[in-house]
Amino acid sequence: MSFENSKDLFEWSKKYLVGGVNSPARAYDPFPIFMKKAKGSKIYDKDGNEYLDYSLAFGPQILGHTHPEVKEKAKEALEKGWALGTATEAEGKLAKKITNQFSSIDKLRIVNTGTEATMSAIRLARGYTDKDKIIKFDGGYHGSHDSVLVKAGSGASTHGAPDSPGVPADLAKHTIVVPWNDKEAIKEVFKKEGENIAALISEPIFGNTGCIPPKNNFIKFLRDITEENNSLLILDEVITGFRVARGGAQEIFDVEADITTLGKIAGGGFPIGIFGGKEKIMSELSPQGEVYQAGTFSGNPLTVAGGLATLEVQEKQNVIPKANKNGEKIRKMLKEETKELDTTIQGTSSMFSLFLTQKDEVLNYSDVQESDFEKYQKMHRELAKKGIYFPPSQYEVAFLSYKHTDEEIKQTVSKIKTVLENLL
Ligand SMILES: Cc1ncc(COP(=O)(O)O)c(C=O)c1O
Repeated sequence: MSFENSKDLFEWSKKYLVGGVNSPARAYDPFPIFMKKAKGSKIYDKDGNEYLDYSLAFGPQILGHTHPEVKEKAKEALEKGWALGTATEAEGKLAKKITNQFSSIDKLRIVNTGTEATMSAIRLARGYTDKDKIIKFDGGYHGSHDSVLVKAGSGASTHGAPDSPGVPADLAKHTIVVPWNDKEAIKEVFKKEGENIAALISEPIFGNTGCIPPKNNFIKFLRDITEENNSLLILDEVITGFRVARGGAQEIFDVEADITTLGKIAGGGFPIGIFGGKEKIMSELSPQGEVYQAGTFSGNPLTVAGGLATLEVQEKQNVIPKANKNGEKIRKMLKEETKELDTTIQGTSSMFSLFLTQKDEVLNYSDVQESDFEKYQKMHRELAKKGIYFPPSQYEVAFLSYKHTDEEIKQTVSKIKTVLENLL
């Protein structure tokens, strides 16, 4: 299998694009594989190699790539104009569908990325509560804006430090960082700071430090403690929304967030972010209220058509249960086949992580950091040589679509086993 074209393209791209890529997660050693097209469960590179795709554009493609119904609806929208900068009926239709699926959302706003959604949700929470501080989890990723690009200091719960040059320390100090799955640390924060906390933001299933489901009714606990302290609960369902259940992870955990953020699948693979919640909170947003948020491309016709078509296909073709079954299958087979190879397989629904660790269970960010990242990198490249495109980092979750077949899953597990045996 040759990767020569990818290698050359990377050298060429580096002359014009920072690091040769447009998002750091796409850069990996020794050079990123340059893809050219995708269909169903498969993706194809510039050297003519074919891969079974378990990254699925970092999550959005639960229908598999280039689903014909999504393509058709996007084409119809394209014919009518792809940036009108006015109100359109289709935006209302997508919003209606989503509010029907999520009991916690009365009203919502469509934006362009998950980053914009969480940034705006946090501003809204601060405006609504008239408080400044937020709590986030160590290793939790909510996009690349300043309030959430904050890392934990040492200790159980800390006022954050900037995670990147350019994030003002004066802003980072308003973000309190706590370990995931740690109820005591959160109780401690609320005891000390309760009256200053505008919101706690969390993914309902950790999905950016590998897949780490919550333990011991953790999400319900987050709901209760935020309510008791008059703080808002922002559940970031950018990954889990329209993937784990029709009503998101909130349906599974029987919890209603004050503000929910969505993205990825909601646009069917076109750029999108959404934030929404109860009427009394959302009405604080401009133009009804005073918390400002705006965007030239928000509710873009192609994105909205892609999102609507995706949700329609999900309904008609039982997509989520099928993808969930695929997830169960691959996790079960991987557990059986790789148990002697220092792996821990975790996940839920159609998400999974293969942690290269001796730990029996990965519970939080510091556990993930004990994994063998170098070996993961080698595994990623060796799998690519066998036609399996896995997420490029141990921190990224692997996804299944409803298009992956039993035979493909079987082949994948067998190839993972062979690769890991050879890396021992
Ligand atoms: C949970 C979560 N929130 C927010 C984001 C940011 O979304 P975007 O990359 O569309 O800005 C991501 C991206 O991976 C995410 O996983």
